[in-house]
Amino acid sequence: MNQVTLQAGGVEAGAEAKLGSEDKTQGVYISTYGCQMNVNDSERMYSLLEMLNYQPVATPEQASLIIINSCSVREKPVHKVHSEVGRYRELKKANPELRIGVGGCVGQQEKDRLLKDVPLLDFVFGTDAIDKLPEIVARVKDSGQSVVSAKFEHQQPYHIETLIKNPGVSTFVNITKGCDNFCTFCVVPFTRGRERSRPLAHLVQDIQRLVARGVKEVTLLGQNVNSYRSDCGANFAELLKTLAEKTDIERIRYTTSHPKDFNQELVDIMQAYRHKLCEYIHLPVQSGNTEVLERMNRGYSRQEYLEKAQMIFDTIPGVVLSTDIIVGFPGETDAQFEDTLSLLDEVPYESIFAFKYSPRPFTKAARFTDQVAEDVKSDRLNRLFERHRELAFAMAKKYEGRRLAVLVEEYDQETGRLSGRSTQNKLVHFTGSEELIGKTVWVEIKEAFPQTLRGHMVLAQ
Ligand code: SAH
Ligand code: SF4
Ligand code: F3S
Repeated sequence: MNQVTLQAGGVEAGAEAKLGSEDKTQGVYISTYGCQMNVNDSERMYSLLEMLNYQPVATPEQASLIIINSCSVREKPVHKVHSEVGRYRELKKANPELRIGVGGCVGQQEKDRLLKDVPLLDFVFGTDAIDKLPEIVARVKDSGQSVVSAKFEHQQPYHIETLIKNPGVSTFVNITKGCDNFCTFCVVPFTRGRERSRPLAHLVQDIQRLVARGVKEVTLLGQNVNSYRSDCGANFAELLKTLAEKTDIERIRYTTSHPKDFNQELVDIMQAYRHKLCEYIHLPVQSGNTEVLERMNRGYSRQEYLEKAQMIFDTIPGVVLSTDIIVGFPGETDAQFEDTLSLLDEVPYESIFAFKYSPRPFTKAARFTDQVAEDVKSDRLNRLFERHRELAFAMAKKYEGRRLAVLVEEYDQETGRLSGRSTQNKLVHFTGSEELIGKTVWVEIKEAFPQTLRGHMVLAQ
């Protein structure tokens, strides 16, 4: 196959004419890896592909277009793309019309190299090329050539509207894209480009549109939401305040916030608007040792992190914290790892997401010469999870007998069971009827586990 490289810019006039020319409905299957950003991007892709008459299908066998929305944050991402495309070899043989593309962070990272390495692929597109997807697919089909579109649009303002086919009760809203922090372990600044924020006025409108479609809760998304800065100068705390005051959304969550940018103004606003701003903060620490944090370029010490956590607990009583931790960062000694373990005794994280360090392309830490052995990393990860498990059980017990406000999201026909989340982001199961989906109800907790709570509905707090 020959290859075409699309230039930056919008959908060209000729291509637009072709977009409308497809009249037979076809199936598209997107397999999604990685973070909520990618989940949201896949929703956007489904919506955009409706322009070409593609409808989502449940299996790759039903599809005439398959997209792998890839993630490269940890281990063997390119290998994963290879093996998934390999699984579609027979499908492609049986249906030469089938088109397969790779988007997301591996697409951005590998660009045309991916087409060379995986000849079965028809197109590769980067994280700034999502809105060009209809054009790319039309081009691939019409020209019979492969296409690569993976340029960053750094010069363009970040003006998008949330596109989602069935938003449901709770949905994600991007507020920033990219990341400028360059933590030494992280590939994201290279796969998502420079940080850009959406204007505050656009976000108010966007969320009001979602409210009109029945959405009750939004999760504001960004790699570092609290470095948000609107064109009008508003910072993240001011954004939260405006959204709480000027929109009819019932609940607002956000992820991910960076400890270095967490300040008193932000927690004061969370406390003042706690009827809307959920009492849950994901605050990735990465390590409990100051030297390791320095080598990670995180911008805070253990002590500063502890002070910020204390400020949060002091200002917002009942708030729940979770975190991300990396074990086996290059040069991490046993004693430095012990500092991470002991952090769990000082900060009552109700859940942790912990990972073995994995060297990523382009990153500084991948070139550090003191890499830690795999078996040491595995051992540290096990010890960390074990320690957290003991603490998490004890922490969960405090919910027994308490009454929590739960936004109902799902109903299971077979068991008659409802499930939803409390403002503290706890998954709560209880019995009730389907009409309660989208309503906030009070649930008294009978049995508590670290990740889920079980209870029964009561009339009032
Ligand atoms: N923007 C977010 C993190 C996005 S990546 C933040 O700053 O918190 C999600 C998590 O993946 C990170 O918090 C980190 O714990 C983990 N991670 C990132 N790069 C990694 C790597 N090279 N090896 C192991 N874990 C990594
Ligand atoms: Fe990666 Fe650090 Fe940016 Fe998070 S803040 S995306 S960990 S570089
Ligand atoms: Fe993965 Fe890219 Fe998200 S690397 S974690 S999909 S930003």
